[in-house]
Amino acid sequence: MTAPAFRTVPGDGGPLRVAVVGAGAMGRAWLAAVAASPDVELACVVDVDPSVARAAADAAGATGVPTGADLTALAAATDPDAVVDVTVPEAHLPVTLTAFELGLPVLGEKPAAATLPEALCLAAAAELSGLLFMVSQSRRYNAELTRFRDETRRLGRLGILTTEFFRAPRFGGFREAMPHPLLLDMAIHPFDTARWLLDAEPVSVYCQEFNPSWSWYAGDAATTALFEMTGGARYVYTGSWCSPGLETSWNGAWRASGERGSAVWDGDHAPAAEVEGEAEAEGAPPAPPAARVAEGIDGALAAFVHALRTGTVPRGEIHENVMSLAMVASAVLSARTDRRVLLADVLATARAEAAELAEAEVRDILLAHGRGR
Ligand SMILES: NC(=O)c1ccc[n+]([C@@H]2O[C@H](COP(=O)([O-])OP(=O)(O)OC[C@H]3O[C@@H](n4cnc5c(N)ncnc54)[C@H](O)[C@@H]3O)[C@@H](O)[C@H]2O)c1
Repeated sequence: MTAPAFRTVPGDGGPLRVAVVGAGAMGRAWLAAVAASPDVELACVVDVDPSVARAAADAAGATGVPTGADLTALAAATDPDAVVDVTVPEAHLPVTLTAFELGLPVLGEKPAAATLPEALCLAAAAELSGLLFMVSQSRRYNAELTRFRDETRRLGRLGILTTEFFRAPRFGGFREAMPHPLLLDMAIHPFDTARWLLDAEPVSVYCQEFNPSWSWYAGDAATTALFEMTGGARYVYTGSWCSPGLETSWNGAWRASGERGSAVWDGDHAPAAEVEGEAEAEGAPPAPPAARVAEGIDGALAAFVHALRTGTVPRGEIHENVMSLAMVASAVLSARTDRRVLLADVLATARAEAAELAEAEVRDILLAHGRGR
């Protein structure tokens, strides 16, 4: 889907005023990011539980900032320029639609929505309102990852990209109870990164999930997914959330295999590459030091502000980001049905479901997307 133009917020040189909605664990991290950024100013904090909103604002040092449970009322009182949505995935659809009704662009936590049809509704609603909806895929904002991508560009055509993700976190709470915990809660990060590294979109997937006998998760905590990407490259993700010992980084361990060489990245340190024809004595040309850029959610916040100020379409804009959620939905479907799944089929089904959910004007846009617009 092509990203449409969106309304900019030119500003008068002052910071962008944001309402942070959702003040849980990640909401507190966003409040710290907002406090640290010279580009933004906190207008208000919203949470369905107003005491949670107050406590999080106070903990972030924002003692005078209004808090409460009602975004519409707080927006009327504090006049924000944008919403940062850090609610649970089930609330991403209603919170984003409320923000659009208020004429406010949204920077939302991943995933775009709880389901692919809901995310497609939000893409159409963003188009209808002329407002930016950007999803924060925070792991893409990483200087070493950018260097790894640069290294892969020295390898000629890319054939295989792999991610290995082996960790053993004891989260407690919803992750240990939910179905498909690894695919739904974590794998969207590397799936999104793989699209960016390969500069390609997913065509099909075959995925198997299972739960090791010693797993402390109710849902399947281990998976292998094989994606065919446009241009013919294959992306293979293998991961487990109950894999103690020699754990990989939270970014996973990556390897890219191309026609002239290979590149690896352990997710934490500098990447390395070997390219055919480069004399061993010479070694690879030393990679330039990573440029200092805002990383993680700081990077996403900076990109959101830049986009609103300039009209530049950011990474994570909903029309682009929806394909990362489509990878997750397709992998889950493949694992459930034990067959290779075509992304185009999953998107067509999701679009039809989205049209049933949506109001008439949003439905017209979804139908136009279905006709290839
Ligand atoms: N990028 C990352 O690395 C990363 C890490 C953790 C979580 N996340 C994402 O961040 C989001 C929040 O996760 P979390 O761990 O902070 O969850 P959490 O449960 O700790 O907090 C969510 C908060 O949202 C509030 N909320 C729920 N519905 C709401 C609504 N309609 N309006 C206002 N507030 C509402 C809840 O009361 C709660 O305080 C999720 O989408 C999650 O996937 C991303």
